[in-house]
Amino acid sequence: MSKMVDQQTFDRLLTEFKQRVDQALEHWLPVDTLNPVSLHQAMRYSVLGSGKRVRPALVYATASTLGLPLEKVDGIAAAIEIIHAYSLIHDDLPAMDDDDLRRGKPTCHKQFDEATAILAGDALQALAFYILTHDPEMTSDASRRLEMIEKLALFSGSRGMAGGQAIDLASVGKEINITELETMHIHKTGALIRTCIQMAALTSNSISDVKFEALDCYAKKIGLSFQVQDDILDVTGDTETLGKPQGSDAGLDKPTFPAIMGLQPAREKALELHHQALKAIDCFGEEADILRSISNWFVQRSH
Ligand code: IPE
Ligand code: IPE
Ligand code: MG
Ligand code: MG
Ligand code: MG
Repeated sequence: MSKMVDQQTFDRLLTEFKQRVDQALEHWLPVDTLNPVSLHQAMRYSVLGSGKRVRPALVYATASTLGLPLEKVDGIAAAIEIIHAYSLIHDDLPAMDDDDLRRGKPTCHKQFDEATAILAGDALQALAFYILTHDPEMTSDASRRLEMIEKLALFSGSRGMAGGQAIDLASVGKEINITELETMHIHKTGALIRTCIQMAALTSNSISDVKFEALDCYAKKIGLSFQVQDDILDVTGDTETLGKPQGSDAGLDKPTFPAIMGLQPAREKALELHHQALKAIDCFGEEADILRSISNWFVQRSH
């Protein structure tokens, strides 16, 4: 019977995954003595240090579930975390959520300036694709590598994350229904989470279509539950624990799950998605327990 990994093992694995990706990030990010110095400083400032490293954890957990050597997915984990960091820099800009605090520090545009923050985001996005074309440890199959690059381009672009951000901004102050809200969340947050699992799964030469679909179904459920919990924490969390301003969504009149359905129904929605995620990967044995634990973490977390 499959279950979750115990808390101690889970904490140990998350630490191991974080260390791995941090090492890869340090490897790929240009040093901050390189010109233009302030741009490179801003890139490193926004990527290195804290951050839960949720997306790299998903990449590694998927690789581990499929019995793949973790070094094969270091580049994928780093590339996705870098796309995520770019999305946060731009998300915090005055033209978007206008937030001053991120990961317990001033946001990139506050620490540097707006132009540098925009460019740091641009440059990080390009760096992610550079990594995917250059990492020697990734698959040696060129067409497979191309397929992975295609996934990241598609899911982070206008039909994925960036599109979701556009829907988010267009929805401010509007009355939208749950289906529209889900569509927004599936794009702005779910798409990149799906990419983590799909890219890691594409590393395998032997995964069956059934197992690929099962993992993708799991990814869709947790991609949504992660953003539902993010919305909940904007209401129930505190700024210090979150490392970002509590109440930012409410202050901007953003449509969120608690705003539209209420706090308790939003909590139930997150739990329901967690259970659906567990069900989706029923066809896996205990090798997927780490994925089960991650789904649980997504809905129980306090930051
Ligand atoms: C925040 O992401 C933005 C969302 C998509 C909800 P995370 O909660 O993963 O932020 P970090 O990386 O831990 O700072
Ligand atoms: C951000 O969503 C999603 C992306 C950055 C793509 P939020 O605006 O809810 O993220 P936080 O709450 O600022 O971290
Ligand atoms: Mg936002
Ligand atoms: Mg925001
Ligand atoms: Mg949020």
